[in-house]
Amino acid sequence: MTLPTRVTIVEVGPRDGLQNERGVVPTTAKIAFIDALSAAGHKVIEVSAFVSPKWVPQMADATEVFAGITRRSGTRYTALVPNLAGLARARDAGVAEIAIFAAASETFSQRNINQTIGESIATYKAVCDGALATGMRVRGYLSTCFGCPFEGHVPPVRVAEVAARLLDLGVFEVAVSDTIGVAHPGQIAQVLDEVTARVPLPQVALHLHDTRGTALANVLAGLQYGVTTFDSAAGGLGGCPYAPGASGNLATEDLLYMLHGMGIETGVSLEGVVAASQTLRGSIDHALPSRYLQATQTAPRERR
Ligand code: HMG
Ligand code: MG
Repeated sequence: MTLPTRVTIVEVGPRDGLQNERGVVPTTAKIAFIDALSAAGHKVIEVSAFVSPKWVPQMADATEVFAGITRRSGTRYTALVPNLAGLARARDAGVAEIAIFAAASETFSQRNINQTIGESIATYKAVCDGALATGMRVRGYLSTCFGCPFEGHVPPVRVAEVAARLLDLGVFEVAVSDTIGVAHPGQIAQVLDEVTARVPLPQVALHLHDTRGTALANVLAGLQYGVTTFDSAAGGLGGCPYAPGASGNLATEDLLYMLHGMGIETGVSLEGVVAASQTLRGSIDHALPSRYLQATQTAPRERR
């Protein structure tokens, strides 16, 4: 079986990773984290979210974070945008690429963005039209593609229908997302078969959470399918505040360890990402879940 020789990693740690932290992470710590991720060689970093601060207080400093980071040429610095108010804030912050975020299940859509799927598509049409007219790129997330915390099974054909609607809005890529980390490798091809009937494979990314320890196995299934873009969060931070049971994203360190071991290039330094994760020590009140970090960064006595 031929696997891709090179993949793109979308580093979502500063957004998906930190959005779920209970304690306030200082803006300066976020900036240091992002600058270290840039230094590690990341080409795409999701910096923050211009969402309602009432809904996700941790992302309230999106403007200040964008103002504080050092942008490296060749790296794309992106942010979530839920509506026209968010688009205006993103534009003012000098953001060139945004991401909209819809869901494949109704209940999650309503819990996460207070809109039905249909209403959200109408909102995102206005966002995409405004963004694309001024030369911004727009990515489209699609949540609950492998299961919903409220509805359980989500039919793959339903996933494909909403993915096609996102593509129609003009997104350059659809991030097929396992919001609560329920997917297993058998489901990857099943869902991608439906999605790629409507969205060309090169425009499909996988966004995996590792709640049940299946994320790396799912990456392998994705590679075998021909997917070449994967999202991950440094340290394995993460979770969605509106998805009960969602835990960390696939850890970037664990993903890099596997990909580099298989001879697949990413352009990202594993040790650089480890250093970036370490900048968060002192700003978060728990250990980072990345298996690679736990195996290599804890003292032997702690490991026992
Ligand atoms: P709403 O309450 O229905 O709308 O929220 P609203 O227009 O009534 O807004 C409420 C208040 O927020 C108002 O303030 C607005 O002005 C303000 P008030 O009048 O009460 O003082 N507001 C804003 N302020 C700043 N920036 C904005 C903005 N919009 C409204 N952009 C809304 C609807 C969509 C805004 C809200 O539900 C929201 O922000 N939701 C975001 C939730 C979120 O961020 N979830 C996590 C990210 S998604 C995720 O993690 C999944 C993903 O990783 C993929 C996967 O794993 O599945 C992407
Ligand atoms: Mg996510």
